[in-house]
Amino acid sequence: MEIIIADTYEEMSELAADMIERQLLRKPSSVLGLATGSTPVGTYKVLVRKHKEEGLDFSKVITFNLDEYLDLSPSHSQSYRYFMDHNLFNHINVDPKNIHVPYGHASEVEEFCEWYEEEIKRAGGIDLQILGIGADGHIAFNEPGSSLGSRTRLKTLTQQTIEDNARFFDNPEEVPRFAITMGVGTILEAKQIILLANGAKKADIVAQALEGPITAQVSASALQMHRQVTVILDAEAGSKLKRADYYRWVFQEKKRLVPRLVGKVT
Ligand code: GLP
Repeated sequence: MEIIIADTYEEMSELAADMIERQLLRKPSSVLGLATGSTPVGTYKVLVRKHKEEGLDFSKVITFNLDEYLDLSPSHSQSYRYFMDHNLFNHINVDPKNIHVPYGHASEVEEFCEWYEEEIKRAGGIDLQILGIGADGHIAFNEPGSSLGSRTRLKTLTQQTIEDNARFFDNPEEVPRFAITMGVGTILEAKQIILLANGAKKADIVAQALEGPITAQVSASALQMHRQVTVILDAEAGSKLKRADYYRWVFQEKKRLVPRLVGKVT
């Protein structure tokens, strides 16, 4: 695992976008796994800038989003499809037929989840997966207790997640209780993963996930088993890590001596 503690949210976002750019330059038809939430918004902004000002090309990219609320239509302003359209897809040249976001209105949810898994396979698997982390350690909507081998499925949200997400809805009662989410096992099959976290509110859970035991009680801790994970934090989110000095030193030395190693597990 590579752990980068950036000074600011902006630096975190630039580093993540640079890694995605390098992936697209290496393989223009990359399959990207995408996340919602406030954390990756800055990264998406940098990608839009790179597309508009530097011509970063998304025309061959295939995308799969991690999750979607059950029963929210893609046009609902709090749906993850709406979020992705407004924060990224509407501003880049991704081909709409290459975009996959779980469909919250699916009538046969189990069949839909199986189809989603099949589509990921048909696309050749996810090359680079972007993740945020929930306050209870969830990745996508894999709440505590999710099997580390879980696949795309329907999941009930915890009280904490419902409260955390209430800020986006006019009325707390409107926050969906269920979501369709890729499983931890699905996520672990991505060839490379970037986990992003910012802000003091994430410091405790980040420390548990990265330096604590691997446990289904903290879904993000499963990332410790993956071969190619880069965690990019801002200073606040990284403030509770025991080995913060070591991670900082590694980052500085890579930048100073072999910059192309930044974003690689070494
Ligand atoms: C939601 C999403 C997660 C995201 C998390 C954190 O629960 N399903 O994918 O990582 O929120 O959100 P934020 O980035 O706003 O802290």
